[in-house]
Amino acid sequence: MARAIAVCNQKGGVGKSTTAVNVGSYLALSGRATLLIDLDPQGNATTACGIQRSSLDRDVYEVLVNGLPASDAILKTPIEQLDLMPASLDLAGAEPHLASVEGREQLLRRICEPLKPLYDFILFDCPPSLGLLTVNALVAADSTLIPVQCEYLALEGLNSLMRAVTLIKQALNPSLRVGGIVLTMTDFRANLAKEVAGEVKRYFKDLVFDTSIPRNIRLAEAPSFGKPICLYDPHSTGALSYQLLTQEVIEKEVDG
Ligand SMILES: Nc1ncnc2c1ncn2[C@@H]1O[C@H](COP(=O)(O)OP(=O)(O)OP(=O)(O)O)[C@@H](O)[C@H]1O
Ligand SMILES: [Mg+2]
Repeated sequence: MARAIAVCNQKGGVGKSTTAVNVGSYLALSGRATLLIDLDPQGNATTACGIQRSSLDRDVYEVLVNGLPASDAILKTPIEQLDLMPASLDLAGAEPHLASVEGREQLLRRICEPLKPLYDFILFDCPPSLGLLTVNALVAADSTLIPVQCEYLALEGLNSLMRAVTLIKQALNPSLRVGGIVLTMTDFRANLAKEVAGEVKRYFKDLVFDTSIPRNIRLAEAPSFGKPICLYDPHSTGALSYQLLTQEVIEKEVDG
């Protein structure tokens, strides 16, 4: 049965999509059948997997809002073992539609039930908000993977995210495991980054992954070529870091 992981942080631009795509890729390359579900109307994970959004006629919106069978909206990616449920431009209209649906927080969970036996991992790339799409991801997930950029006020946003995750755990998804913080775009030559990283580790202790992801230009370039880093530049420091992070994710999810 797949482990479902929500890559989430309501703060924008912290590395959610980069993390979802690249951890997803390395999970797949390690032989784990992986499904990446793009829950962000911006569709960055979809684009980064080399899928043209304008050509999409079925996507996660059709599944969530119009009841299309999930299997009809799953695409192959250039990486064997990595499948994608893409987000077309329509997803931007999903939240207002979903707001009036009964059981609106559980839609994704129900969609994932029949998919769980088919995969080892399901990853959700969440939008930068705590709206209904992110809530659906947290209700459907077994655990969270939270990218945090080491900058001013990072801890403040992180505390409110942790509170939201804890509330969802209490009210809607008791089996949700809170945790899995990864420091992203680190540049430890900067004092602020060092300080913030130190604070996050002091506060969240074991929840923080040992591996952090350095700022690396190759990671920023890869999506514009529609490629995960393992295809774009597998020897870059960004690629090696995501490989190590994926190893930690596997250990944490599978072994405890
Ligand atoms: N380690 C890194 N080094 C350099 N650039 C990075 C790194 N990680 C992400 N980026 C770049 O930073 C920008 C934001 O990253 P990303 O899109 O992954 O964040 P996000 O949290 O998904 O953003 P949003 O909240 O808008 O969905 C992107 O242009 C991405 O290519
Ligand atoms: Mg994103």
